[in-house]
Amino acid sequence: MTARPYPLHENYPRHVAIIMDGNGRWATQRGRPRKLGHLQGAEAARRIVRAASEFGLSYLTLFAFSSENWRRPGTEVAELMGLLHRYLSGEHRQELEELDIRLRVIGQRERLPDTTLRQIERIESETAHHKGLNVVIAISYGGRVEIATAARRLAQKVQEGEMDPGEINETLMERFLETSAFPDPDLLIRTGGEKRISNFLLWQLAYAEMVFSDCLWPDFDREAFLAALNEYQMRERRYGALVSTG
Ligand code: IPE
Ligand code: IPE
Ligand code: MG
Repeated sequence: MTARPYPLHENYPRHVAIIMDGNGRWATQRGRPRKLGHLQGAEAARRIVRAASEFGLSYLTLFAFSSENWRRPGTEVAELMGLLHRYLSGEHRQELEELDIRLRVIGQRERLPDTTLRQIERIESETAHHKGLNVVIAISYGGRVEIATAARRLAQKVQEGEMDPGEINETLMERFLETSAFPDPDLLIRTGGEKRISNFLLWQLAYAEMVFSDCLWPDFDREAFLAALNEYQMRERRYGALVSTG
């Protein structure tokens, strides 16, 4: 199904990236285990994917697990991996089919459990022909390691004589990042009240508009998403140039 009930409104972002933060606090505030917050957080992610598809966005990147999140207690890491496993399987698959969503994953795949890795590969190939919203999930992702890896690969090319150091510029660098197939995010949303990037898409966010919300991720809904999109629509993007006078 490719029909979209909501046409793309003027001045909507093409690519929205979200730092889905605040699951643990959401649960703690209710006297419940953090695990429940993550479970509700996964539901919120489903909701927002559906909304992004209805709104006619082209790309939605979700920060699900950072390269630093491995430092959390083993039980929490296992719970999060279990949730990702569930998210990438079963009923959710059907939803991807129904909404014509193409799903891709960025991050350090070599650190993921084998079963998760195989599941990711399967879902990426099964949805590769979909033409609707592109959903990018960042798992075990860190912006610095991504840039360092790109630099290492470039250095190898130079060492092998395939490339001259003088050729290295921003465009070439971008081709070596994991996000080479996607445009840069226009809008970054972070829920959970913190006002920081936490090593997310360091290169790609250079000129993104940022919206920080105090809403904890499990509470983030369609209305809150729309409010962030509306705020984006009121921003003026200048990219270092002067205001256009028309
Ligand atoms: C975001 O929620 C999910 C992940 C980082 C995996 P948190 O788990 O960081 O929740 P808080 O920030 O502790 O509330
Ligand atoms: C950022 O949240 C990572 C994800 C949402 C996946 P964190 O909760 O890990 O970030 P910090 O520790 O508050 O910077
Ligand atoms: Mg957090």
